[in-house]
Amino acid sequence: MAKEAQNQNQKTFTLTNDETGESIQLPVQDGTVGPSVIDVRKLYAQTGHFTFDPSFTATGSCKSRLTYIDGEEGILMHRGYTIEELAEHSSFLEVAYLLLYGDLPSSEQMTKFDHDITYHTMVHEQINYFYRGFRRDAHPMAIMCGIVGALAAFYHDSLDIHDPEQREISAHRLIAKIPTLAAMTYKYTIGQPFMYPRNDLNFSENFLYMCFGLPAEPYKVNPILANAMDKIMILHADHEQNASTSTVRLAGSSQANPFACISSGIASLWGPSHGGANQAVLEMLDEIGDKKNIPEFLEKAKDKDDPFLLMGFGHRVYKNFDPRAGVLKKACDEVLDDLGVHDPRLELAMELERIALEDPYFVDRKLFPNVDFYSGIILKAMGFPTSMFTVLFAVARTVGWISQWKEMVEEPTLRIGRPRQLYTGPAQRPYVPMNKRK
Ligand code: CMC
Repeated sequence: MAKEAQNQNQKTFTLTNDETGESIQLPVQDGTVGPSVIDVRKLYAQTGHFTFDPSFTATGSCKSRLTYIDGEEGILMHRGYTIEELAEHSSFLEVAYLLLYGDLPSSEQMTKFDHDITYHTMVHEQINYFYRGFRRDAHPMAIMCGIVGALAAFYHDSLDIHDPEQREISAHRLIAKIPTLAAMTYKYTIGQPFMYPRNDLNFSENFLYMCFGLPAEPYKVNPILANAMDKIMILHADHEQNASTSTVRLAGSSQANPFACISSGIASLWGPSHGGANQAVLEMLDEIGDKKNIPEFLEKAKDKDDPFLLMGFGHRVYKNFDPRAGVLKKACDEVLDDLGVHDPRLELAMELERIALEDPYFVDRKLFPNVDFYSGIILKAMGFPTSMFTVLFAVARTVGWISQWKEMVEEPTLRIGRPRQLYTGPAQRPYVPMNKRK
C-alpha cells in the first residue's frame, strides 16, 4: 500500500508491508515538466525487495535534459523546443548542436560546428576494404552493425571516454561519418562505386549525393528532396529513452567506447517493433495491395492468434497521436506533389489510417499512426529501397544516441547499469550423475 505524504519539504511515498506493518518512506523527485518519480534506489537495502517492471512501462532509468515526451498530449520537445517548430525552422545540424550542447547555437557556433562535422565526413580509406567482406545481398543494417562497431578499430585517438576532447571528437566523427557509411553501404549492396563526400554541400544534400551520385556524371541535388531529407532527419533525431537509446546508455554505462555503444544502438533499432517498422510498413502496404483488402488485414491485426500487427500503428508512449507522424505526412504530400509521383501506396495508407481510426479495436487501445507510417512512402519516392529505410533512421538517431551517451558519461555519478530479476528457475538441487538421471 502506498500513500503520498509531505516530510520537511521532501515529498515522499510511504510503502507499507501489509504482512508486517513496517513502513518505509520513498523520496519523490520532480522534473521540470511531466510525471515525478519515486526514488526506489534504497528499496532493496530497506526491504529486501526489488521492483518488477520487465518492459520498463513504469521505470525512469535516468535523469535527462535532452528530450521530453507527453504521450497523452502528443508533445515532443528537444531541450524545450517543440518538434513542430524545429522541423519548420531549424536544420538537422542545428538540432544536432542543440541536442549535443543544450542550446541553439549562435551563428559563430553554428559555423564552427558545421565545419567540424563537414571535415569529418571522410572515412579511413582502409574501411573500403572492410566492406568487401560482406555479401552484396547482405541487409544494409547487418553491414551497419559491423562497420560502425569496427570504427573503434580505426580511430584509436578518440576512445578515451574520460577525456572531454576525445569524447567530442568521437561525437563529431559519428555524426559526420555514419551518413558516409550508410551511403557506402547502399552503394555496396547495389554494386556501384563509393562516392566520397562533398564538403561544399550541406548535411542532407551531401547524403543524397553520396547515395545517388555517380562518378561518371555530375549530380544535381534536388532541393525539395534535400529539404525533405533534412526534415526526416530532424524528426528522427532523438526520442527519449526508447529501446535503442537505452541500449546505447546501458552499453556506455560499462565505459565501453562510443563507437561500440552506437553499434549496439543500431542493432537494437533494427527490430520491427522499433526502427525496423518503416521497412515493415511498406512491405505490409505491398502485401495488402488494394483498398478492398483492408478489412481482411484489419481483422488479422485484431486476431490475437495471428502474429500480424498493423505496422506503423501504436506506440509505447504516444496514446493520442505521434506529433512526428503529422509533420511527416505533410512532408510526404509535398514531396510526392513536387516530384509528380503518384504512389498508390499513399492512398492505400490514408485509407488504412481512416478505417483503422474508426475501428473500436484501435480506438480503445489508442493505436494511432506513428512516425514510421509515412516515412517509408516518402523514402521510396526519393528512390531508396525498403531495406535502407532503417539505416536512414539510424543516421538521424546517431545524434540522439551520442548526445544521450555524452550526457550520461558526463554525469559525476556514472555507474554501470545492472538490472536485477525475479528468478523463476529451480531452487538449489543436487547434481545427478548421468547414469542415474531419469
Ligand atoms: N496492430 C494491432 N494491435 C496492436 C498494435 C498494432 N500495431 N500495437 C499494439 N496492439 C495491441 C496489442 O496487441 C495490445 O492488445 P491487447 O491489449 O488486446 O493485448 C494493445 O494494443 C497494447 O499493445 P502493447 O503490445 O502492450 O503495446 P507496446 O507498448 O508494448 O508496443 C509497439 C508498442 C510500438 C511495439 C506496438 O504498438 C507495435 O508493435 N506496433 C507495430 C510496430 C511499429 O509500428 N513500431 C514502430 C514504433 S514507433 C518508432 C520506433 O519506436 O522506432
